[in-house]
Amino acid sequence: MIEENINSTKILEQNKNSWDAMADSWFGSTALPSYGCLVPSEEELQLFPALTGKKVFDIGCGSGHFLKWCKEHGAEEIWGLDMSTRQLENARTYLTQSGYEPHLINAPMESDCGLPTDYFDVVYSIYALGWTVDLNTTIDRISRYLKRDGILIFSWDHPLMRCIDAEGEKLVLNGSYFDENPFSYIQRGNPVTIHNHKMSGWINALAGAGFKVEKLVEETDAETLSQEYEFSDSYYSPFRAKKMPLSFIIKAVKL
Ligand SMILES: C[S@@+](CC[C@H](N)C(=O)[O-])C[C@H]1O[C@@H](n2cnc3c(N)ncnc32)[C@H](O)[C@@H]1O
Repeated sequence: MIEENINSTKILEQNKNSWDAMADSWFGSTALPSYGCLVPSEEELQLFPALTGKKVFDIGCGSGHFLKWCKEHGAEEIWGLDMSTRQLENARTYLTQSGYEPHLINAPMESDCGLPTDYFDVVYSIYALGWTVDLNTTIDRISRYLKRDGILIFSWDHPLMRCIDAEGEKLVLNGSYFDENPFSYIQRGNPVTIHNHKMSGWINALAGAGFKVEKLVEETDAETLSQEYEFSDSYYSPFRAKKMPLSFIIKAVKL
């Protein structure tokens, strides 16, 4: 069941419209081996297993660039889900022009969209899971899609990011770490709404869905750490990344 049904429905509708409007400007803006801004890459972390012959599923696949990376690394089947129709149109064009035959599903990650269960070797999500309006339902669904011993890998903003502002040359704790209420802001000119989850919210959702966490990465990449930076009030600044993780990455195994 989706929690707070009416609000969640409105949030999904708003976010879908905004992602449809933003999709073209987002095309290929990130791609594996990158997990996010100023964080160690997959080349360094080596979280993915060998993909040869594997069935992989990307939640919030955007323009499909990560799925191409999986295919180039030997994946047998590539599946992607995104609620933005425009993102999926771009992904379909990009992947078919690359000679691949993706399975693409246009639906919210929280919904029951008839996907196969006990089927995938790897489910991953790069900067998309945090958009969910119902974390527990989404993690439960992912657990069902995976085979036993299947792997889930995902990255998202570190929960501290939403509480800490850059002000007067300092990082200041302005929000509450405990506040998990939805909040809205303007992204590339479009209104979007997300929830900030505590780290315990993520870990407990995984535990409740039968996952064992193998690795939690809360790091800034070595190159950023090795240099000095002027103060900046931008959200993903290297100044901030020197003092705290901008993202977290989790690798979990379905027991
Ligand atoms: C920051 S983008 C990341 C896309 C891709 N993983 C990448 O890194 O380039 C977030 C994606 O999540 C999708 N999204 C947002 N909320 C969603 C939801 N509830 N269900 C499915 N997809 C969603 C958006 O349409 C968007 O494509």
